[in-house]
Amino acid sequence: MRLMKVLLGVCGGIAAYKAPELVRHFQKAGHQVAVALTPAATRFVSPLVLRTLADGGVLEGIFSTEERVAHVALADWADVVAVAPATAHTLARLATGMADEPVSLCFLATRARRIVFPAMNVNMWINPATQANVACLRQRGVEVVEPESGELACGWEGAGRLPGLDRIVELTVAAASGGDFSGVRVLVTAGPTREYLDPVRFLSNPSTGTMGFAIAARAASRGAEVTLVSGPVALPTPAGVRRIDVVSAADMREAVFAELAARPAQVVIAAAAVADYRPLQRASQKLKKGEARRSVELERTEDVLAELVRSFHPPVRVGFAAETENILANARDKLLRKDLSLVVANDVSAGSGAFGDALTTVWFVEREGEPVEVAAASKGAVADRLLDVVRRHLDAATHPDKTPSDS
Ligand code: CTP
Repeated sequence: MRLMKVLLGVCGGIAAYKAPELVRHFQKAGHQVAVALTPAATRFVSPLVLRTLADGGVLEGIFSTEERVAHVALADWADVVAVAPATAHTLARLATGMADEPVSLCFLATRARRIVFPAMNVNMWINPATQANVACLRQRGVEVVEPESGELACGWEGAGRLPGLDRIVELTVAAASGGDFSGVRVLVTAGPTREYLDPVRFLSNPSTGTMGFAIAARAASRGAEVTLVSGPVALPTPAGVRRIDVVSAADMREAVFAELAARPAQVVIAAAAVADYRPLQRASQKLKKGEARRSVELERTEDVLAELVRSFHPPVRVGFAAETENILANARDKLLRKDLSLVVANDVSAGSGAFGDALTTVWFVEREGEPVEVAAASKGAVADRLLDVVRRHLDAATHPDKTPSDS
């Protein structure tokens, strides 16, 4: 493992009390640490403690320093800049490019990789203003790690917690080395398909594509080379992702097969809600109303995932199972039937949090071990947890002595 020079930006949230411990965690892993503090951070954590620990120095203000241009020296020194915790206020300043205190100043001046760990009250986190700032930072290539869910210091429950300190070290080091998916090619399918009856009517489903797009975005920011094959959705293309738009299941199969033949992927994640049936005939002109009852004959569509597994057998194969009953049993059945590494199962019965809702609950079903529940998480957080499992399977595929259940 490469040893890094880490510039840790600390902001004024309650999680700042963990900063000295975080410095020690980086150092125990062999890395060197300098610290930049916002003025608010100095109210939550003692600069004296940090000055005693940090072997790369502490930047507390933007004017009073011994060194001539201290923020530029630190920004140039760092292999990676990690902001933990990042408050909603600092996210806003980083997104707008402000530079009136040490953290934002170094963040703007550095050419190193930047990773941000937001931690705040859940309502501040899901506020559209904060989410727009996060999207803006990601668009510019900054890695923003989704906060974890649980009990928050403010008394609320939900997303907003700082990840564990070992996890922060691991993700920071991975970001500095190009991401833990660097060199990995990932193909993701997303969105619904449309199966046309006539030129203006089709059979489809309410999939919005947010899950597949979140996976593509997270995989790209973790360093993967990502192709996203998407049905019709109203979402912008995530930064750094190659996108191919399709309409029907047949189009999706064709696009996926052409892509895998041209650029083999180590990981395929099928998050698309592909129609299982299409009208046997598609009328060339708009159908006119007539008799009171009318029937449409349907035929099975191509099973994109099952067919690609048979033809290409990528090392890691992930399917989704949208179920309204017997969720885990059906997911397990799909895992074996389609020869998958992992199935992400979710409950799509009314009010369950699927299909476009902000928070969702899913289960990861693998061949070994019990299903793992990921409860009331944002789709970005589910995407990250999913990619952690995928990473484990990739490691097992490349080191046959490991099993996918070894962590
Ligand atoms: N899938 C696919 N092509 C299809 C149908 C599904 O690639 N024509 C993929 C989906 O992207 C998802 C998984 O297969 O990853 C879902 O499996 P499937 O058995 O089709 O799920 P359901 O349609 O929910 O199955 P069923 O109708 O059997 O419940």
